[in-house]
Amino acid sequence: MNKIQFNDSELLYPVGLGTWQMGEITSNKKNELNTIFQAIDSGIQLIDTAEMYGEGKTELLLKEVVKQKRNKIFLVSKFYPMNAAKKKLKNALENSLSRLGTDWLDLYLLHWPSNTPFDEIIESINVFKKSGKIRYFGVSNYSYDELKKIENFIDNGSVVTNQVYYSLNNRGIEFDLLPYCQVKNCVTMAYSPFDQGDIFKNKNFLKLCEKHDFDPAALVIKFLLNKDLVLPIPKTSNLRNLKKMLTDLEKNLNDDILEILSEIFPHPRKKSPLSII
Ligand SMILES: NC(=O)c1ccc[n+]([C@@H]2O[C@H](COP(=O)([O-])OP(=O)(O)OC[C@H]3O[C@@H](n4cnc5c(N)ncnc54)[C@H](OP(=O)(O)O)[C@@H]3O)[C@@H](O)[C@H]2O)c1
Repeated sequence: MNKIQFNDSELLYPVGLGTWQMGEITSNKKNELNTIFQAIDSGIQLIDTAEMYGEGKTELLLKEVVKQKRNKIFLVSKFYPMNAAKKKLKNALENSLSRLGTDWLDLYLLHWPSNTPFDEIIESINVFKKSGKIRYFGVSNYSYDELKKIENFIDNGSVVTNQVYYSLNNRGIEFDLLPYCQVKNCVTMAYSPFDQGDIFKNKNFLKLCEKHDFDPAALVIKFLLNKDLVLPIPKTSNLRNLKKMLTDLEKNLNDDILEILSEIFPHPRKKSPLSII
C-alpha cells in the first residue's frame, strides 16, 4: 500500500487508528490497549485522539502506549474550539501533553470551526511549533466553504489536513471538498469510515464482500485508500476485527468491485452540507 505524508513529514502507513470512546470503561481498557499495541506492531503509526474523548480519559489510556511506543507512533490530538483563544490554548495543549505523557504531538487539530480568529490560532500554533511541542497543525469538520476562507494557511503549509466524516455511506465530500484538498496537497483524514458500525448492517454491501471474499472493514478502507491523499482512521477495540481488516488490506481491489460499490453507494451529484458526527 502506498504510504502517505503530511506536508514534508515522514511517510506513514496510510491507515490510522481512532480511539473515540476508548478508556472510558475500566473493564474494556485491557482489550483496548491490546488492540492498540497490536495495531502498532502491525505497522499502524497514526493514533488519533482528542481532549474531548472521555474528557481526557482516552488520552490518559494512551499514556501507556506512548510510554512504550512513542517513537513508533504519529500522535494526533485535537482541542476544543472553546479552547482556541490564545489565553486558553497553551493550557489545553499542556494538559493533553501531560495526560499523554509526552513532550510533543505530531499533529494538533482544531476539532471543529471556532469563533476565535484563525490568525490568533495560527499565532499560538507557531509558538508551539517553535518550542517543539507540536510538529504539524490541521483542522477538522471544515466544509469546502470554510476551508476556502483559510486557503492562504493551506497554501503556506500551516494547515496540513482536514479531518472529516467520510465513508461509503457518506460520500458528499467527493463533490467539492475532496478534489479541492487533493489539488492543495492537504490530507483528508476520513473519520467514522464504518459509520460507527452501521456499514456492517448493509445487506447488499455484505453480499458483495462475501462474493469477493473480502473482510467488510477492509473493503471500506480499500475504497477510501483508492482516493488520493485520503487517510482513514477507523476505530476498533476488537483484536479479531483488527487482524481480519489488516490481513485483507493486502488484497487487491479490482474495477468490478469498485463499480458495484458505486452502484450501492453512488458518487454525489450535487453539493451537500458537510456531515458531522
Ligand atoms: N474529528 C471528529 O469530529 C471525529 C468524529 C468522529 C470520529 N473521529 C475519529 O475517527 C475515529 C473513527 O470513527 P468512529 O469511532 O466514530 O467510528 P468507526 O471507525 O466508523 O466505527 C467504529 C465502530 O465500528 C466497529 N467495528 C470496527 N471494525 C469492525 C468490524 N470489522 N466488524 C464489526 N464492527 C466493527 C467498532 O466496534 P469494535 O471496537 O467492537 O470493533 C466500533 O463500534 C474515532 O475513533 C475518532 O478517533 C473524529
